[in-house]
Amino acid sequence: MIVTTKELFKQAYGNYAIGAYNINNLEQVVGLFRGNLGKTQKNEDPNDNSKSAPFIIQISRGARSYSDKRFLESMIRTADEVFPEAIFAVHLDHGTEEVCYDCIDSGFYSSVMIDASHEEFAKNIEITKRVVGRAHAKNIVVEAELGQLGGVEEDIVGSVKLTDPDQAAEFIEKTGCDSLAVAIGTSHGAFKFSGTQGLHFDVLEKIQQAVPKDFPLVMHGSSSVPKDWVERINNAGGELKDASGVSESQYLPAAKLGVCKINIDTDGRLVWCAIHRERFRDDPANFDLRPPGKVFMQAYAEYIIHKNAVLGSAGQLEAVRKAIK
Ligand code: G3H
Ligand code: 13P
Ligand code: ZN
Repeated sequence: MIVTTKELFKQAYGNYAIGAYNINNLEQVVGLFRGNLGKTQKNEDPNDNSKSAPFIIQISRGARSYSDKRFLESMIRTADEVFPEAIFAVHLDHGTEEVCYDCIDSGFYSSVMIDASHEEFAKNIEITKRVVGRAHAKNIVVEAELGQLGGVEEDIVGSVKLTDPDQAAEFIEKTGCDSLAVAIGTSHGAFKFSGTQGLHFDVLEKIQQAVPKDFPLVMHGSSSVPKDWVERINNAGGELKDASGVSESQYLPAAKLGVCKINIDTDGRLVWCAIHRERFRDDPANFDLRPPGKVFMQAYAEYIIHKNAVLGSAGQLEAVRKAIK
């Protein structure tokens, strides 16, 4: 069942964060749905709901143009039929104004992100406000961004600018956005921190105090870049030197300070890369695409189960179902 992020955030606020996972292909979609339902195709107990979680499936502009946006949409529609128990939002990740309108008009997305964070404050407000107007007219919710993360994001390589708490309050009031992505030290990609850098919880706390009560905050660039997956990639011929991510132990403290949505894309790519490199290394005579695809779907589902456990969303699906009925 497709719902808005707003409905999910209402349940999560202050307690846990919802995983927002990027997808680009069929195997990711299948692994994602299985993982969020706690189904890894082993002999699981059908009555065990301890692993099932609400989630957000997100589509970037790059993913939309990888083949054709309609393939992704129809795969998600089909997944909704194949996994009728799933509760999730369909979200545009890092949209421009034009792409937001395309998603709003398509009637398929329940949530869009307008990312005008690279613009001046006043211009960011102006653009975001226009998108909010168009989206709300169709009951679609809007995530906006204030501040700059750093790292690679779509086609922009940016420099870091932490979110100003007072500006965040003014931005929300003037734009009417439904959630706000904040820059508190994370960055996109597999190379996030050097030395002792980490999240700025002091800034996050000030933002939470400045914005309206229970206003949902979003953390982009939150992959944990697990050492074991990076090692597996490197052992199978990869060259990822000094990769590092957000410590998973920081997810719940961030959730307690109002972060309701935690974006994970890079980790899924690392799982994909490790599985495929290992298969090619270990089974060089095999040229079939399905064997690695199968192993990936299983590994990705298991990874999602792990991620939801550390986000605190694992086991929350039935409570969400009751609340939104
Ligand atoms: O923020 C960027 C996301 O990780 C999406 O990446 O544009 O390569 O699909 P992408
Ligand atoms: P990662 O690169 O840390 O996975 O962040 C993804 C993201 O923020 C997508 O919008
Ligand atoms: Zn992002």
